[in-house]
Amino acid sequence: MEQKIKQLLEEARVAIATAGVADLQLVEARLLGRKSPLSEIMAGLGNLSPEERKQVGILINQVKAEITQLLEIKKQEVFTIKQKSATERDTTIPGIKPEVGHLSPLTYINRELVDIFKELGFEVAEGPEAETEQYNFDMLNIPASHPARDEWDTFWLRHEPDGKNNTLLRTHTSPVQIRYMLSHKPPIRIIAPGRTFRFEAEDATHAAVFSQIEGLMIDKNISVAHLKSVLLHFVRRILGDDHDIRLRPSFFPFTEPSFEVDISCGLCKGVGCKGCSNKGWLELMGAGMVHPQVLRNVGIDPNEYSGFAFGGGIERLAMLKYGIDDIRWLLSGDMKFIKQF
Ligand code: FA5
Repeated sequence: MEQKIKQLLEEARVAIATAGVADLQLVEARLLGRKSPLSEIMAGLGNLSPEERKQVGILINQVKAEITQLLEIKKQEVFTIKQKSATERDTTIPGIKPEVGHLSPLTYINRELVDIFKELGFEVAEGPEAETEQYNFDMLNIPASHPARDEWDTFWLRHEPDGKNNTLLRTHTSPVQIRYMLSHKPPIRIIAPGRTFRFEAEDATHAAVFSQIEGLMIDKNISVAHLKSVLLHFVRRILGDDHDIRLRPSFFPFTEPSFEVDISCGLCKGVGCKGCSNKGWLELMGAGMVHPQVLRNVGIDPNEYSGFAFGGGIERLAMLKYGIDDIRWLLSGDMKFIKQF
């Protein structure tokens, strides 16, 4: 019996010496737990003679004490190793770069737009995205009965028939013209980039939430020539000197005359290709000379002052500049897409 107990102690010494952080608890249970060989010997003590019982009992207690002590030493050792590895860092190892966000190409193009127009002396103006019916439509010469209202499918916030306080999500940035002209006297030179909203089906070139940049210049003797030269300058700065623009007659209730502004296709240089549906030109914005009635609405005398205005789609411009074939990419927030810019 004594021999067996001494052998158990020997085995315990080896088990404790070779134990690691992961299995130390298991080794302890195996050596001292209720089902350990030592516990089994203890349970069988009753079968021994009183003399033997005394001797074996003393020996078991000594062995148990030694095992407990060896386990304590081992625990401390293992614990210090763990602490060391947590505090000692190798600062020469290259770190793992934390994932950070990325600016949208729309932000880049917006900044570029603002810089180009600032160089020409334009100021940046802002207006609310939740707008009144009066500023979004009526003051721009689009009364409720006007058929042109159908052009702008509207998200209404409050829409009561004949209501004086109707509100909506602005369908274009043109109400910023009204707000600015009501609070400033000519000469006026502003741009107003911002989000706009239309209740329409989305496809590769149409989104329900998109951005426009509005431009407005009011002074004495402003003509279509000024409009065309400012637009040509801006298009060439943003897309390159190999681009041309053309003004096509169009209609907007708040400008007279009105134009659609087309840009020569950068892919085929105006010859015609898939990117421009073989037209050689891409439609970018609406523009025109501010309608005398709009000037009167804001208290500016059309006999003294004239001016031009334009409103273009910023996503459409980004699509042209970066060669993006679907507007929905720009609004997806997909990091794989955004990180390419
Ligand atoms: C207007 O919104 C006028 N306010 C523009 C204007 C301003 C004319 C000042 C005269 C004077 P239009 O609805 O055509 O016009 O929109 C202007 C531009 O916004 C379009 O040429 C296009 O580039 C962009 N756009 C229009 N609808 C969408 C849409 N659903 N998704 C993306 N871009 C759009």
